[in-house]
Amino acid sequence: MTASVNAPLNSRGKLASSLPAEQLAEISELFEFRRKGYSLDAPFYTDATIFKIDMEAIFGQHWIFAASIAELPEAGDYVTVDYGPYSLIVLRNDDGGVNVLHNVCRHRGARVLTEPAGSTGNLVCGYHSWTYSPEGNLIHASAPGETKFDKGCFGLKRAHSRVVAGLIFVCIADEPPADFDETAKIFEPYLAPHDLSKTKIAYQQNIVEEGNWKLVMENNRECYHCDGHPELACSLFPTWGLTEGLIPAHLEEVWDRNKEAQSSLEERCRRYGLPYEVVEELDTRIAGIRISRESLDGDGESFSPDGHRLSKKLLGDLPDFRLGRCSMHLQPNSWFHFQSDHVITFGVFPINEHQSLVRTTWLVADDAEEGVDYDLEKLTYTWKQTNLQDKAFVELCQTGAGSPAYEPGPYMKSEYQVEAFINWYVQRVQEHLA
Ligand code: FES
Ligand SMILES: [Fe+2]
Repeated sequence: MTASVNAPLNSRGKLASSLPAEQLAEISELFEFRRKGYSLDAPFYTDATIFKIDMEAIFGQHWIFAASIAELPEAGDYVTVDYGPYSLIVLRNDDGGVNVLHNVCRHRGARVLTEPAGSTGNLVCGYHSWTYSPEGNLIHASAPGETKFDKGCFGLKRAHSRVVAGLIFVCIADEPPADFDETAKIFEPYLAPHDLSKTKIAYQQNIVEEGNWKLVMENNRECYHCDGHPELACSLFPTWGLTEGLIPAHLEEVWDRNKEAQSSLEERCRRYGLPYEVVEELDTRIAGIRISRESLDGDGESFSPDGHRLSKKLLGDLPDFRLGRCSMHLQPNSWFHFQSDHVITFGVFPINEHQSLVRTTWLVADDAEEGVDYDLEKLTYTWKQTNLQDKAFVELCQTGAGSPAYEPGPYMKSEYQVEAFINWYVQRVQEHLA
């Protein structure tokens, strides 16, 4: 029997080296000859082998957003997150940290925890009751018989985790990219004042979109399509992503209002010592990021029809409701809106080459009372509508990518962040395949 310990998986280059040379050359060529400034060739959105490479080179190597600490408030609370063939258990431990374990029993491979979230002491596999500690150590295997059996060799495999400003990130690579430390230093001061450790889930929505995970991310990185979001356009200035000289006539008035709101927001941020500057390193670092604090329309407080607050309780130590939204995008699978009254986290979890789970979670102050401090329908209305509209847009593109008539088209100037996302993706995969 080969000894095996519960070390992180080594996934580097496994799939690539197992592909027939001809197929690998063909796929590598698709990456190499990707036309800059254009959407990707169809196989990137439709091909099962490229999806496997994405799982290995992107989701198998990088820091992935999993959940927020509000989803695991007590020791023993867990969520399971799946991406492609992987399933991970993210578990709050006794000292307040997080353990990440592969959700694959070391007996015969059964899923150990089958619920998306819950609370547990030891982890008991439902098949033959192998029992693991919250650290993943195998502590009991009933009637193992006469097989020579060293329990120490059969713990659940572990993965890395990081908790920064209340956001939990996981990485299954042996050696996670080190530059996440730098990225964390960028976003921590923006997010910490909202204090996620003192928030609770008001609502969580899981949508399966019939679209490749990259189409979900591409759609999120531009507001060129924001005419399709009437509810969102009440509070989010639809000029997002545009710069002087790119403003269409019908948005000129909005642009002026946006500029005015932004300068008064910045003045308030300076007064309170809150960072607001745009930091944009979407494809210039491995843990790619964009973060800024941006004004909202109307009252400038939250995602409501008039921009007015949606929860009466301020988050953390924030001094003011009128703080717009602190918006963050992290490569490869998440984006966030931090307002003064609530936070919305978005995570994309690929299922296969043509389906993705999009998980949206609304967090409010932990002492906010539903029906008293906030109305759940009103709190979630804008983004529930927007998510459904985005799901439809993504699905239109997935259908298009499946047509023989599809060919890559040019990204517009206002879609430069889409290009940055794709450029980041292509670079990361090429590094992995090299
Ligand atoms: S597969 Fe888990 S105990 Fe047998
Ligand atoms: Fe959208």
